[in-house]
Amino acid sequence: MDKPDFGTYHHSSSEDSERLRETAEPMFKEAFSRLPVDREKAISILDVGCGNGFLLSVAGMFYPASLLTGVDSFSGESLHGSSIAQARKNMDTLGIGARTTILEVDLLNGKLPEEKFDLIISNLVLHNLQGKRFRAYRIIREMLKDGGYFLNGDLFIPTWALPDKFSHDMKKISSSFILEFTIEPPSSPISFLKHYRLAVLRGIY
Ligand SMILES: C[S@@+](CC[C@H](N)C(=O)[O-])C[C@H]1O[C@@H](n2cnc3c(N)ncnc32)[C@H](O)[C@@H]1O
Repeated sequence: MDKPDFGTYHHSSSEDSERLRETAEPMFKEAFSRLPVDREKAISILDVGCGNGFLLSVAGMFYPASLLTGVDSFSGESLHGSSIAQARKNMDTLGIGARTTILEVDLLNGKLPEEKFDLIISNLVLHNLQGKRFRAYRIIREMLKDGGYFLNGDLFIPTWALPDKFSHDMKKISSSFILEFTIEPPSSPISFLKHYRLAVLRGIY
């Protein structure tokens, strides 16, 4: 069987990109297992900034009856070797292509799916949007069903002005989301991983 190609993250080597995925995958699986969601149900899952489908595949395997949608602009520099064709090929290679829809769309300006989702997931995307990330959080909140969860694995790199960027961001989005719990990575030789957090957020109604 072909191996899926999930691409190389910017400022990273292909080996470090693989290690990052090997770190993020169990963190997401732990988060999924702690959600009050029936694993066998045909829940709808949206991956925001899906790239070549790494996180879609983790979610698709964990929830075997789920219906998967990925959106990505496929235009930035943050994932080398990414394309909608490669994302679809990866999903077919992994045997989940039939229940996956991948759309080429900009989260901030594009025509997003009109349906609402049980679960929205994202990995290494919102920090790329800098100040516009808060608009992205609001858009994501609008696409969640009542009681739905947003699982956001991302880098929260401190700056001089924002020494605790994670707390800052969680406070700023607290009118839209409740932070249910956080998962931190184990210590790693990959230096930027110390700024990686998985935030499990529930939409507020
Ligand atoms: C570092 S990659 C992560 C890809 C994937 N989530 C993964 O973990 O392999 C960031 C992704 O976000 C996408 N992205 C960045 N800004 C976006 C936007 N405004 N709308 C949609 N996708 C965006 C990029 O095209 C890229 O595929």
